[in-house]
Amino acid sequence: MAMKLLKVADYAEMSRQAADIIIKQVKEKPNAVLGLATGSTVLGVYRELAADHRQHGTSYRLVRTVNLDEYVGLDPDHPNSYRYYMNQHLFAQLDIPLHETHVPDGLAADLDEECRRYERLIDELGGIDLQLLGIGRNGHIGFNEPGTPFSTATHVVELTELTREANARFFPSLDDVPRYAITMGIATILRSRRIVLLASGEEKADAMARLLEGVVTPDLPASALHLHPDVTIIADCEALSLIPKEKRRVDAP
Ligand code: GLP
Repeated sequence: MAMKLLKVADYAEMSRQAADIIIKQVKEKPNAVLGLATGSTVLGVYRELAADHRQHGTSYRLVRTVNLDEYVGLDPDHPNSYRYYMNQHLFAQLDIPLHETHVPDGLAADLDEECRRYERLIDELGGIDLQLLGIGRNGHIGFNEPGTPFSTATHVVELTELTREANARFFPSLDDVPRYAITMGIATILRSRRIVLLASGEEKADAMARLLEGVVTPDLPASALHLHPDVTIIADCEALSLIPKEKRRVDAP
């Protein structure tokens, strides 16, 4: 199994290390296709990328991006849509042309057609060079909830209550959290040439312990990553706190 684990002290260190990998990728291949994620975990990475762009001028002029997922029914201008999040936290801070950034359209009249279009789009871009991932408390990646077959392409999902509750902190109330989303499937994610998964905080410790046990099962969607040849996991101490002590040494300062 080609899964590399970088154990880091904390969120800041995780964010810096992930940003370094992305910056290196963009320098090596200026027209790289980056697969991006949303949520709290990746916010620090986006702050690092923005700071590096300002200070060192790393250019994203030729980069193309595809996001993992989007809520169904939220307008791109809705502050809780993932399109809004991406524009706000990353794209507006870089020199990337907005038309080269892609997020599934959660308002599409025909959602199944939108899923097919998104798969074609990724192919037309030449595939994803580097996919950034967070992990849900139940081990979901993107919005692929437990039980999702690994063969699934981009599809519409009904969100689990656990996921809706976890994401409710961004919404006025639980009732406002959409019930459906469009997400890249596990097969879509596994087609990326390289994958970087981030985990921070003790609420991810259970999912991480199960992931690092190595059992590959649709009950833990992230375990599909064991089937991929080039995965780097960057996790902090809290996220690794349920791993047996002897394996928990912090490698990076
Ligand atoms: C969300 C997103 C995922 C994200 C995960 C973790 O529901 N759909 O793409 O990786 O859950 O989110 P957070 O980083 O906020 O913990």
